[in-house]
Amino acid sequence: MSDMMWGGRFTKAEEKNALDFNASISYDCRMYKEDIAGSKAHAKMLARHGIISKEDCEKITEGLSAIKKEIDDGKFPFSIELEDIHMNVEKRLTDDIGDAGARLHTARSRNDQCALDLHMYMKRQIGRVAEKLISVEEALLEAAEKYKDVILPGYTHMQRAQPVLFAHHMLCYFAMLERDFKRLEECYDMADMSPIGACALAGTTYPTNPLEEAEELHFSKVYGNSLDAVSDRDYLLQFLSFASICAMHLSRLSEEFIYWSTSEFHFIELDDGYSTGSSIMPQKKNPDMCELIRGKTGRVYGSLIGLLTVMKGLPLAYDKDMQEDKEGVFDAIDTLYFALDIYAGMISTMTVNGKHTREVLEHDFSNATDMADYLAKKGLPFRQAHAVVGGAVHYCIEHHKVLHDLTMEEFKSMSPLFEEDILEALKIENCVKNRESYGGTGPKSVERQKAHGKEAVAAM
Ligand code: ARG
Repeated sequence: MSDMMWGGRFTKAEEKNALDFNASISYDCRMYKEDIAGSKAHAKMLARHGIISKEDCEKITEGLSAIKKEIDDGKFPFSIELEDIHMNVEKRLTDDIGDAGARLHTARSRNDQCALDLHMYMKRQIGRVAEKLISVEEALLEAAEKYKDVILPGYTHMQRAQPVLFAHHMLCYFAMLERDFKRLEECYDMADMSPIGACALAGTTYPTNPLEEAEELHFSKVYGNSLDAVSDRDYLLQFLSFASICAMHLSRLSEEFIYWSTSEFHFIELDDGYSTGSSIMPQKKNPDMCELIRGKTGRVYGSLIGLLTVMKGLPLAYDKDMQEDKEGVFDAIDTLYFALDIYAGMISTMTVNGKHTREVLEHDFSNATDMADYLAKKGLPFRQAHAVVGGAVHYCIEHHKVLHDLTMEEFKSMSPLFEEDILEALKIENCVKNRESYGGTGPKSVERQKAHGKEAVAAM
């Protein structure tokens, strides 16, 4: 017999390298609070149903509280030999309080226990991530407010397309994060299902009540199938999908902040507190935070693909492969939390060079669509109007001008429909002002978007 928890069946101990390879304690120790709370609820339930005595339950509860304090204080000696958080805590409890501790694992398996811990842990972390997500949303709303008159070129294919309000651009990211928030709420709902009571896979012969434990641990529902309870990792995959999409959104914003900060664009300046310098080039101010977030997005995707791949060939119910579920998820939580935290600060401290973004629009053709619309509104079919303005742009490029530099004579030579008011129509401010279509970049439309955003955040 080996002195492992399952030693009865064994004639010798595990090899050292097998122990090291098998252990998950280095990372699953993160779930100690959940493990201990879960065990306390389990002991209570066992006592309520007369499966263990009230005295044993009290001893277990006190013993677990003492262990929790020791872990809180960083004094608990975790052991690799005891593989994971579940066995580290249970073994120590049994050492401390004897038989009562050894009764705790009645009507329970590490399979439902580790699933329970992870469900609880995810609920807690989802709450933290949600708070950070909201703080980025608030920062975006504030930036939209602070720079509400700033106009910048909007791009398609990275070519100047039409002028837009900076606030409109920020509110687009707000809309993305709003969807992320909804996805995160769904993640919470999936995580909020208790697997405890499934035991190893088939349920138990004891008169337990998983609903009581679930209620005690603030779960709104329990798994209806014990095989599903121990083998489901969908809620983790869903979180990783959410995290991947959210990281992708932050990565897109990072990309924009990076090129907006170049001398070529000069649209924004990130605060010194969120920038780094160069060890050799004294003039440098680098947007490292944005680049890191863009880079770390790959890690988050990696965790999603990693877990999808772990799960894809697994037969029911529990397989040890599933121990691989945690590191990627933990890493994704940390990465996203950090990235959101950085973003909230970075957005609220950056400076937008509104004068410059407006100025560059004087020297380009972002108002060409407005010129075509002008003609179309005077009765010229839009396709023909498009062709006239295309010709005008070509003419301007050859004569080193932009559309609003053309003389009335030149306008008239292009189409007799042009009158003095064409210059009004081509004013950059008016290109924005005139786009009051639903969701458009017009100031009223953008105000409406901002108001909806504020309502959404207030309702969170
Ligand atoms: N350390 C394991 C994990 O994280 C706990 C569950 C082990 N269950 C088992 N039957 N070996 O997945």
